[in-house]
Amino acid sequence: MKPLGAITRGTTNPNRLRRVDNFIAYRCGDLLRAAAEPLVVDLGYGATPVTAVELRARLARAVRAEVTVVGLEIDIVRVNDAQPAADPPRLQFRRGGFELAGLRPVVVRAFNVLRQYAEDEVAPAWRAMTATGAFLVEGTCDELGRVATWACVDATGPLTLTLSARLSDLDHPATFAERLPKALIHHNVPGEPIHDFLDRLGAAWDASATPFGPRQRWLAAVDRLRGDGQPVLDGPARWRRGELTIPWPASAPVS
Ligand SMILES: C[S@@+](CC[C@H](N)C(=O)[O-])C[C@H]1O[C@@H](n2cnc3c(N)ncnc32)[C@H](O)[C@@H]1O
Repeated sequence: MKPLGAITRGTTNPNRLRRVDNFIAYRCGDLLRAAAEPLVVDLGYGATPVTAVELRARLARAVRAEVTVVGLEIDIVRVNDAQPAADPPRLQFRRGGFELAGLRPVVVRAFNVLRQYAEDEVAPAWRAMTATGAFLVEGTCDELGRVATWACVDATGPLTLTLSARLSDLDHPATFAERLPKALIHHNVPGEPIHDFLDRLGAAWDASATPFGPRQRWLAAVDRLRGDGQPVLDGPARWRRGELTIPWPASAPVS
């Protein structure tokens, strides 16, 4: 079967995806612990497999030693180049696309993949990946992984949007606008929920300046948002990491 999708730029970096890996361990830990086969697919690992190697190591440490990661790439050259890093059976690299090469993983991480596609390709790609029964974490980050956003998606559709940043480097939450998932990035315009949300987050940040550093400022901004009626999921242990998760409908495009 021909893999679904197209070869795109392979840019990646060591440690770039640590923020989303930590979230996956938290959000999908119970799913992976309960699974008969705790299989995770890293779709589109790029020019080197370093972030897939890191994902496997982090989940083995934080969740369960038996977690298996299969890195799927649509580019056969990148599949061949990755083989020296394989450590079967727990870490493998194969050719595949959005159809997931016939695998039935518990979790799929697809990072910095859909940003290079057209917006109208997002929904079919989400559907193809989640039709396997997988819980999908799909998002975007900057080159070094200091600012990231991602959507959690299952077969019912998108569930949540998460923003995550290294707070010591965060000038202003407006920075998230440049790194939104493909499904939202073109909707950051007045009248759209994501624009309104980022506006309110920015205003909460502006009103929360404190001499006690960026972490306290972020926590105060999250408190202010919640006080204004914005549902924020998870809890202070996540917020302290510079992470903020909201239900998808609070960000979903209206046009
Ligand atoms: C920018 S790299 C991302 C690397 C890594 N995930 C990261 O975030 O650092 C995107 C990779 O996704 C691959 N890709 C694009 N579409 C794909 C698809 N449908 N299935 C599998 N891989 C895909 C490209 O070939 C490219 O190597």
